[in-house]
Amino acid sequence: MENKLTVANIGLKFGMSHIEGALAGGAEIAAICDSDPEALRFAGERYSIPEEKRFTNYRDLLEREDIQAVTVAVPDQSHAELTSAFLRSGKHVLCEKPLALTREDTLSIIRAADESGRMCMVGQICRFTPAFEKAKEIIDSGEIGEIYYAESEYAHDYMYLVDTWRADPKRHGVIGGGCHAVDLLRWLVGDPTEVFAYGTHKLLPQVAYDDATVAVIKFDGGVIGKVFVSTGCKRDYTMRTLIYGTKGTIICDNTSPQMTLFTAGEDGMAHEPRIIPVQVNNHNAAREFEVFAGAVTGKTPLITDAREGAKTVEACLAIIESSQTGRPVRPDYNFR
Ligand SMILES: NC(=O)c1ccc[n+]([C@@H]2O[C@H](COP(=O)([O-])OP(=O)(O)OC[C@H]3O[C@@H](n4cnc5c(N)ncnc54)[C@H](O)[C@@H]3O)[C@@H](O)[C@H]2O)c1
Repeated sequence: MENKLTVANIGLKFGMSHIEGALAGGAEIAAICDSDPEALRFAGERYSIPEEKRFTNYRDLLEREDIQAVTVAVPDQSHAELTSAFLRSGKHVLCEKPLALTREDTLSIIRAADESGRMCMVGQICRFTPAFEKAKEIIDSGEIGEIYYAESEYAHDYMYLVDTWRADPKRHGVIGGGCHAVDLLRWLVGDPTEVFAYGTHKLLPQVAYDDATVAVIKFDGGVIGKVFVSTGCKRDYTMRTLIYGTKGTIICDNTSPQMTLFTAGEDGMAHEPRIIPVQVNNHNAAREFEVFAGAVTGKTPLITDAREGAKTVEACLAIIESSQTGRPVRPDYNFR
């Protein structure tokens, strides 16, 4: 019988989805950790994790040789500290998105991954949403032809989060939440080569950064695109994403329970829309953990490694810089 992957889960709010993903994947929970004893107790009781496996200080887990892999779901500002510490202590790490908030921090994680030889996966979970996986499959099959335009929007009302770490000026909405939209376009279309952005600030005066940003994007090969991020919107959470190709169009709107695919007929005209019943609104933590565990055990390649996470952060930082300077910015993807 195969040995079970042993995992420690750090940060136990959204991080409880990592416990669920690990349990669904047949891993063994060797430890859970949260600096807040109440969050620790809640998760411990919910998943029947015994007291001796519950910790409030992640440093108590660094030297544990029985822990092979760690999931990190603490505030974004601490990703670099915890992820680098666990990599350097010999653990594989699944770190929540965004990989970090600054270039300096993404570089420190890349160095820790390279020098330790351990896997570092960033949890860009939209890549595991069934509709976006399907969109990727359709694009790669050539069914919608050559992509010429793509857009993605991340809109989420942060009104209830204004007095949390999410309001830290370093954690601009474009990088904190908008990284989902930027990463999706990077994955489906390619790396932005230049961005130009405008921002505005009308919804959350308590927060130091703009609460709405729109970026126009150039990709290689004459492809253009757009990202819209709103962190104060008065609507339900959305990750609406549209991909336009020379032979068809994909519409993934998560207010709808399906994706829509238009393809052109032989006369070049658009057919009736084809409805594909696949979930658009699904954070698929089980699939994300399956991919992480597959990479750790050498069965499948690691797709969103530290460099991939850093590229998304870099594109987000370029959008923020452009919105603040009024100039186009070319992201720098050179991470030596
Ligand atoms: N993939 C997604 O769609 C998604 C959704 C929500 C959050 N997230 C990410 O997950 C991470 C956590 O977000 P959240 O909503 O759970 O935040 P949260 O503030 O609700 O919870 C964070 C938890 O981490 C604990 N914590 C903080 N510092 C710690 C430390 N040094 N050691 C141990 N525990 C510590 C806190 O006590 C808290 O319980 C963030 O990086 C966030 O961006 C991702």
